[in-house]
Amino acid sequence: MSTERTQVLLSQEETVRQYEFIEKAALHVQRLKEELGRQPTCCVTTFGCQMNARDSEKLTGILERAGYQLIEEENADFVIFNTCTVRDNANQRVYGRLGVLNGYKRKNPNMKIALCGCMMQEPTVIEKIKESYRFVDLIFGTHNIYKFAELLNSTFENKGMVIDIWKDTDKIVEDLPVERKYPFKSGINIMFGCNNFCSYCIVPYVRGRERSRRPEDIIREITNLVADGVVEVMLLGQNVNSYGKNLEEPMTFAELLRKIEKIEGLERIRFMTSHPKDLSDELIQVMKESKKICRHLHLPLQSGSTRILKDMNRRYTKEQYLALAEKIRREIPDMAITTDIIVGFPGETPEDVEETIDVVRKVNYDNAFTFIYSKRTGTPAAAMENQVSEDVVKAGFDKVLKVVQDTAREQVTKYRGMVMDALVEEVNEHDTTLLTGRLSNNTLVHFPGDASLIGKIVNVSLDECHGFYYMGHMVD
Ligand code: SAH
Ligand code: SF4
Ligand code: F3S
Repeated sequence: MSTERTQVLLSQEETVRQYEFIEKAALHVQRLKEELGRQPTCCVTTFGCQMNARDSEKLTGILERAGYQLIEEENADFVIFNTCTVRDNANQRVYGRLGVLNGYKRKNPNMKIALCGCMMQEPTVIEKIKESYRFVDLIFGTHNIYKFAELLNSTFENKGMVIDIWKDTDKIVEDLPVERKYPFKSGINIMFGCNNFCSYCIVPYVRGRERSRRPEDIIREITNLVADGVVEVMLLGQNVNSYGKNLEEPMTFAELLRKIEKIEGLERIRFMTSHPKDLSDELIQVMKESKKICRHLHLPLQSGSTRILKDMNRRYTKEQYLALAEKIRREIPDMAITTDIIVGFPGETPEDVEETIDVVRKVNYDNAFTFIYSKRTGTPAAAMENQVSEDVVKAGFDKVLKVVQDTAREQVTKYRGMVMDALVEEVNEHDTTLLTGRLSNNTLVHFPGDASLIGKIVNVSLDECHGFYYMGHMVD
């Protein structure tokens, strides 16, 4: 039997096992309910990227099936932090919030605290928690998240801290319960892990090697979601452009998109993230011809200096990036392009920052996330000499941010007066007579309307531009 086929059978067996653990956990939760005289509550807090957000929906699905009621407050009976470690400030926030949880747990001895996600894949973090945060009940990592039901169960059956961390995995377990945050849109993992090893980045170490899901599993999941009311999907992977390379029957990302496009009832397709080095002409063609792929491409630049890009191991030059952006603007003029930029990578000079600013001006990003370089232990960049001093980084960061905001504002204004379709996402937080919708190019628009339209795609006239969003009104 082929290895892929064996994997599928093992995965199915594992799914059945995990459902058995959900039932076992449900008995414990039922007992707790009787003891408390009310339904036990749970809270899932997510740090980090869309991939973590999707993982949290899986955690929530299992907790709800086990009998917990999901609440927003962190003084619940079961609290889980799904952590991120891409930059150090994400880690610091977790430690701060853990202190608060300890206070809640003193008042509620039945409370259980769990930690999972990327930060837990770092041995130094585990040491620190074992030493200073003894009140944590369960710790697991990114590779065995599919075992959550089993681990949840073990927190009822074991005393003390349960720790289960794996170094890596080649396993993908399908068909576990998921509880979506939004009924009308959903993230879909198309691949896990990353093989790029950009020299500053910890993701490949904490998320493991690149693995693609089989296209039939992806299509089946999306088809089921559409039957359940989903109109927009976001295909998730650290580098979606290298999707399918290691499948038994290799397939390109562009080919996958063509298949997804055919799913009836699905209205919008987004994806994230595209690595510039792997963005093919075939993909540009598919985006251009597609009626469903949204007019938004997130194309992380990181730096505009070819020298820094080389040290970052990004495997493209400033010129190659600019040529690619130009080609996309030429082929698909209404495509919004957004990016990520890092300021303060080791060895970066003010001249390098000027190169980055030059790219920002030339590409005219519709939006850009600018980050201060954060040293991640274990990555090649952490060992590089000439780390940049804080005040030089700050000056460069402020400069880039200013240009980024100016170009983004200019780009967003371009569509004033036009009518575009918006997916209605929610009632506006500040003014409940307004709805908030998302345009295909990812810009938000607020307009008068009724909550019954949530999840529908409507035509909106973009009347006024307020910096990064529009005020508008619906038209037939
Ligand atoms: N796979 C995606 C990005 C994942 S991390 C990609 O390649 O684009 C999201 C963003 O965090 C990155 O694009 C990068 O800009 C930023 N980032 C990653 N590591 C960082 C670090 N050590 N310091 C600062 N920013 C970092
Ligand atoms: Fe990190 Fe680079 Fe992989 Fe993105 S492509 S996750 S930045 S190593
Ligand atoms: Fe953070 Fe892990 Fe995502 S480190 S950015 S949550 S993949």
